Amino acid sequence: MYRDRLRCKSLLGKVMNAEEAASFIQDGMVVGMSGFTRAGDVKAIPRALAERAKEEPFKITLMTGASTGEDCDSPLTEAGVIARRLPFMSDGMLREAINAGEVMFIDQHLSKTVELLRSRQLPKVDVALLEVLAIEEDGGLVPTTSVGNSASYALFADKILLEINLAQPDALQGVHDIYIPARRPYREPIPIVHPEDRVGVSAIPVDPSKIVGIVITNKPDSEARILPPDGATEAIAVQLIDFLKHEVKKGRLSKQLPPLQAGIGATANAVLEGFIGSDFENLKMYSEVLQDAVFMLIDAGKMSFASCTSITLSAKAHREIMANIGRYRDKLILRPQEISNHPEVVRRLGIVAINAAIEADIYGNINSTHIMGTHMMNGIGGSGDFARNSHLSIFVTPSIVKEGKISCIVPMVAHVDHPEHDVDILITEQGLADLRGLAPRERAPLIVEHCAHPSYREILKDYCKDALKRGGHTPHILEEALSFHVRYQRRGQMLPALPESMTQAV
Ligand code: COA
Repeated sequence: MYRDRLRCKSLLGKVMNAEEAASFIQDGMVVGMSGFTRAGDVKAIPRALAERAKEEPFKITLMTGASTGEDCDSPLTEAGVIARRLPFMSDGMLREAINAGEVMFIDQHLSKTVELLRSRQLPKVDVALLEVLAIEEDGGLVPTTSVGNSASYALFADKILLEINLAQPDALQGVHDIYIPARRPYREPIPIVHPEDRVGVSAIPVDPSKIVGIVITNKPDSEARILPPDGATEAIAVQLIDFLKHEVKKGRLSKQLPPLQAGIGATANAVLEGFIGSDFENLKMYSEVLQDAVFMLIDAGKMSFASCTSITLSAKAHREIMANIGRYRDKLILRPQEISNHPEVVRRLGIVAINAAIEADIYGNINSTHIMGTHMMNGIGGSGDFARNSHLSIFVTPSIVKEGKISCIVPMVAHVDHPEHDVDILITEQGLADLRGLAPRERAPLIVEHCAHPSYREILKDYCKDALKRGGHTPHILEEALSFHVRYQRRGQMLPALPESMTQAV
């Protein structure tokens, strides 16, 4: 059956098992792998690599598009293979190794990795390891459910290893649009002016002589763990839709909204789902990842087109959508992540960017990566690519997490991913703060009043009042700015409810 997919007949002799293919990867190499938010990653060769490392320890630098599924980061971390990892991850075991200092993680804007490789500011990729749907007669590589950085890894690498995954549906063929910017100074504008514009070719053009091994697999992508909307995320969605309607009424947005971008995770997915019950029609996405909600919007007749670099779905949605992907073909484009997230295109299209935060501070600075300022969660992903260059940058977060022991609105964020300059609107289930055109002193009361949870509002107000007495453009009491975090670390909650005597015991 794979012969229908391996159309470059001169490569038939390169079909081998995963162990043989893995032997091309040696100690110290830089490996560029396909895979973006658990979609389109290789399924067999990483496990073979991990097995080999049990007998013969070795280390590699691993670059991907973004996070991978269960066959990659976990087994490779367990086997101690990963020395250095970039540009994004979300695997629990790898997260622990990163936070223990065992793996060096380079958290990067996702549009930038291949640009840095192209200009030789990162070490050269030795081997590209990619999942493909098919290999064309001329050696062109057809990606699967993500494009990510695969095209540039294939172009830059000395050797290419491929997995043809028979479980990925044939109907994905033709959905991809591969456009690679030229090296400077020959770079030209990217000619995308609408989300549906096709500007490249449908397969990654490579020299077939670089392909040294092909493994046949038959395994679906790992499922995304998407929680259904809850009271908080539904309330955030209501605020967001009301705000967008208000912007239309004021003439600042057209009735047909600009293209939308939505971040990853449960909050962003639930917020997007909120558009189903709205009056908005003919929505378009120019985003990084398409999660379940996008397909629900297409099915509901609300969304007419979606451009992305990856499709990542829950198990149920995966079964239903991949079985019928032909139905969505004319409404989808998958692009390299460098293009799906490109600042030039994001700015030109005037995107409304909706990203999730871990915490926000009283001035609107956003932390989307570090728990308590030190421990990596996933990475910045594409949120910075979109937030800075968007027409409207919206951040969403529940006002509290962990049964209220943590406030997501704090005096000062313990790590900054998106400075106040890149944040126009902040929304929690409590309300919305419109920060446009406001100075820090004007932003703080708005954020505390509208976004903080009532149980934290008073102590935040007290903080603001005392900070103002110290003066400054962005008033703070430095010795108390991180007091919420310190309290959580000492007492297991950010609220100062425990008596001082108990604190000493802790
Ligand atoms: N302090 C400590 N923990 C926090 C927290 C805070 N302020 N806010 C959230 N968390 C915890 C949650 O409790 C949850 O923990 P659990 O896994 O133990 O349940 C976890 O962080 C994830 O939070 P959740 O509320 O489920 O959010 P999510 O799935 O919507 O993810 C981000 C939110 C910020 C982690 C996620 O969107 C992300 O990684 N963003 C950065 C990358 C990005 O924006 N990419 C999109 C570009 S297109």
